[in-house]
This record gives sequence, C-alpha cells and structure tokens, in this order.
Amino acid sequence: MAALMMRVGPGSFASARVYRPALCSAAAAILRSSSSLPERVKIVEVGPRDGLQNEKTVVPTEVKIRLIDMLSEAGLPVIEATSFVSPKWVPQMSDQEEVMRGLHKKAGVNYPVLTPNLKGFQAAMKAGAKEVAIFGAASELFSKKNINCSVDESLLRFEEVMRAANQEGVPVRGYVSCVLGCPYEGKVSPNKVAEVAKRLYSMGCYEISLGDTIGVGTPGGMTEMLNAVKKEVPVEALAVHCHDTYGQALANILVALQNGVSVVDSSVAGLGGCPYAQGASGNVATEDVVYMLHGLGIHTGVDLPKLLDAGSYICHSLNRRTNSKVAQASCKL
Ligand code: HMG
Ligand code: MG
Repeated sequence: MAALMMRVGPGSFASARVYRPALCSAAAAILRSSSSLPERVKIVEVGPRDGLQNEKTVVPTEVKIRLIDMLSEAGLPVIEATSFVSPKWVPQMSDQEEVMRGLHKKAGVNYPVLTPNLKGFQAAMKAGAKEVAIFGAASELFSKKNINCSVDESLLRFEEVMRAANQEGVPVRGYVSCVLGCPYEGKVSPNKVAEVAKRLYSMGCYEISLGDTIGVGTPGGMTEMLNAVKKEVPVEALAVHCHDTYGQALANILVALQNGVSVVDSSVAGLGGCPYAQGASGNVATEDVVYMLHGLGIHTGVDLPKLLDAGSYICHSLNRRTNSKVAQASCKL
C-alpha cells in the first residue's frame, strides 16, 4: 500500500507527505527476475561536485559542507565531494580543501574527488581524500575544451595519477564523457567509448562511469553503446552518469539496469551541468532515481524523505527551483 505522511513544516520532508512507491516483495522479485534487474543499486551522489561546479553564484563553503553532511545522513554510500582542478577554470570548486576538511565523514561513506592530473592528486591527498576520480572523454574536442589536452595526452596524465594512487593505496574511479554525444563533435562512436573505457579499466580504475554529458542519449543509443563497452569492460565495473537535458535519463538508466549495470550516478535536486558543455542541464535527480528504484523493489539504502530534505536545503540556499519531479510532486501533496 502506498503511504502518505503528514508534512510538518516548510523545508522538512522527514515526516512529510511523500508518496511511497510500494510493491509487494513477491511482485518485486518477479519483476526483477523477469527483466534481469539487480537486487541492489549503488547510487553515486555527484551533486556537491557536478551540481555545484556549474552554479553562477559562489556557493558558500559551509553550505556545501552542510549539503554533503545531509546527503550522508540520507544514506548515500558515495558522495563526490569536490574537485581538485584549476581555480581559474572552475572557480566554484576553489574551496576544495576547506570542503574536504570541513565535512563530517560518516563511517561507510566514500567521498571521492576529481583529480585531472598529478598536481590535483597531490592536493587531494594533502586535503585528506581517500578516493579519487580521473575524467577522460570519448571526444577529442570535448577533451581539449574540458581539460586542455587530447584524449591520448589525458590518458598519459591519468597513468601518472594511477601510479601515485597505487603507491598510496587509493582507489581510482574513471569517467568517460560524451558517451552518447558531444557538444562539439555530435555523434560519438560506441567503439570509441569502448576503447577509452577499456584503457581506463586496464590502467586500474575499479569502476568506469559512462557519462551522457549533454543528456542527448536515448534508450536505443544507450543499449548500442553498452553492448560495445561490455565487450571490453566487465559490466560489474560499469556505472552510468546521465544528464537529463532531453528528459531521457530515467529511461536510459532503466535500460542500463536491464543490461546488468548496478551503479548509477545522480545529483540531488537534479543540480548540475558541465561548464565546458554548453546547454547541458543537470544530472538526473537522485530523488527521482531513488523513487524509481524503490518502486522496482531495488534496494539503495537511501532514505527518500531525508534526501528530499537535502534537496530542499540546497534549493533554498541557491534560491532556485528543484529539478526533481518527485520533490515537486511531494511539495504539492
Ligand atoms: P592547463 O591550463 O592545461 O594546465 O589546465 P597546466 O598544466 O598548463 O597548468 C596551468 C596552470 O594551472 C598552472 O598554474 C598550474 O599550476 C595550474 P599557473 O602557473 O598558471 O598559476 N594547475 C592546477 N591548479 C589546481 N589544480 C590542478 C591544476 N593543474 C594545473 N589540478 C586542467 C589543465 C586540467 C588543470 C584544467 O583544464 C582544468 O582544471 N579543467 C577543469 C575541468 C573540469 O573541472 N571540468 C568539469 C568536470 S568534468 C565533468 O563535469 C564531466 C563529468 O561530470 C562526467 C560527464 O558528465 O560526462 C565528470
Ligand atoms: Mg557530469
């Protein structure tokens, strides 16, 4: 039975009217096995990094820290906290060290950070990061615009990061951007995506996140791309990272789950975009992903009302409307 709870006050969903997608466990099990869906999905929350890197106004450090803490309280197992990139390129992330030092690390939660090169990796270590992510692309022009080097040059830089990370025993996640389209080159070949994913995986990345950076993909394109990538990288090591520009993200994620993927990146309140991918809107909203997964009987460990509170907090702080349909609907209930 769907449960409706009373909303107690502005900004609080902890005991608010959140419609709970309910499914009896037998029905959920049948649904999962008939469509090969995973029993559990790991959600990688990227809002504090992917979301806030794209804000026009400077977000105060204490707001970022509070957001990260609320997300860890909501049960997110991985929260990408910030990035150690050039402050000239992405001023919004220039307080990365303060963010890392200020957040209240919760046991069992990982707080990875982006590191484009050795300089970024060393700064991340100094600030206490325990996991990093390197970020490449399947498009030459995007790579040049985003990190100022070709795809091959980026892979050489990432190898340096990987060697240093191995010495420190630090796990490294890898991103491939523009897997379903590029803002500068248009169509991107699934084989190119597979090639870059394979190189990152062979280098030692434990997980490869496939980024639809500008949210142009459809379930058809996602299936084709995953078929190519799965020939090179075990599906257990794949994640999907869907921006929702064309409203296809949830459909694309569902198709990825049916293809065996069980790690999904998302951003609270649907914040985000990439400063070097014009027109790209935010990631799919974490609230909407959690709602869909719970409705499929898939475990996430995430407390939806607490997550809605985190979304409400950041939207109030930024004075903007949430992009999460679930949050919008829950406010009206
Ligand atoms: P560069 O200018 O080519 O670097 O930038 P450089 O090595 O020539 O150095 C130039 C200056 O930058 C020097 O300082 C360096 O010290 C400094 P100066 O002597 O001029 O004072 N520098 C750094 N400073 C701080 N941290 C560093 C660092 N490295 C060099 N790590 C660089 C190359 C990669 C640094 C630059 O292009 C950059 O920072 N780009 C930002 C990229 C970015 O953050 N993009 C957004 C994230 S990616 C994304 O959103 C996609 C994703 O979500 C997946 C998806 O959606 O597809 C992950
Ligand atoms: Mg992104």
